[in-house]
Amino acid sequence: MTYIWAHRGASAYAPENTLPAFGLAIAQGAEGVEFDVQLSADNEVVVIHDETLDRTTDGSGFVKDHDLNALKRLNANAGRSGATARIPTLAEVLDLFAPTAMHINIELKTSIVGYPGIEKLVLEQVAAFGLAERVVLSSFNHYTLHRLQLLGAGAEIAALFTDPLYQPWKYAKDIGATAIHPDVSHVTSRAFVAASHAAGIKVRPWVADTAADLGRMISWGVDALFTDVPDIALAVKAEHLG
Ligand code: G3P
Ligand code: MG
Repeated sequence: MTYIWAHRGASAYAPENTLPAFGLAIAQGAEGVEFDVQLSADNEVVVIHDETLDRTTDGSGFVKDHDLNALKRLNANAGRSGATARIPTLAEVLDLFAPTAMHINIELKTSIVGYPGIEKLVLEQVAAFGLAERVVLSSFNHYTLHRLQLLGAGAEIAALFTDPLYQPWKYAKDIGATAIHPDVSHVTSRAFVAASHAAGIKVRPWVADTAADLGRMISWGVDALFTDVPDIALAVKAEHLG
């Protein structure tokens, strides 16, 4: 059974990685959510995809060079119509999802800016909300995954990667991850999914938005998929189950 996880919230319909996009994901019935975290100048964990502010906000420069107060003054709904939205903190987002039953995937964006200490800060917040059992921690930076394990993560660890790795479930097992998060185009066959499952490794591709990708991933039995259109993905899933 494939769970539908909202990628950066219901990001096709609302500004990515903001409370409106997350609220919409809940309203649409998404079974999980994915979002990205970076660190402000005053060491607050904030939810934003890019290392810089320019694409998604009316600010500019690096997230790491702005304190939370400055980040909170920005409009995170830049370039789209609709209401102003703010960059949320990790705590605000966890607070929103805590009362739901949804899976929560926190992607630590440490590949470009290292953000020393971010792993500990994230784990502290997950523990403070008592959410370890529902949280999946992922990163393209596998040193971050290793640090999370050294810190006694408690939550599930998933390995993100961009290239088409050969039998990535073997590598995932080797580094202590329990899931792989590959690009959807690199999940090339039903046998790929089956071999990963045989090794005890879950498969969650990103990003499946088209009917073709959604149908193929669901029929191959991936454990979850990331989508910008949770409403459409849920409809495809219902069709498949029906
Ligand atoms: O975590 C899945 C996906 O979000 C990874 O890529 O660039 O959208 O964060 P990106
Ligand atoms: Mg992401």
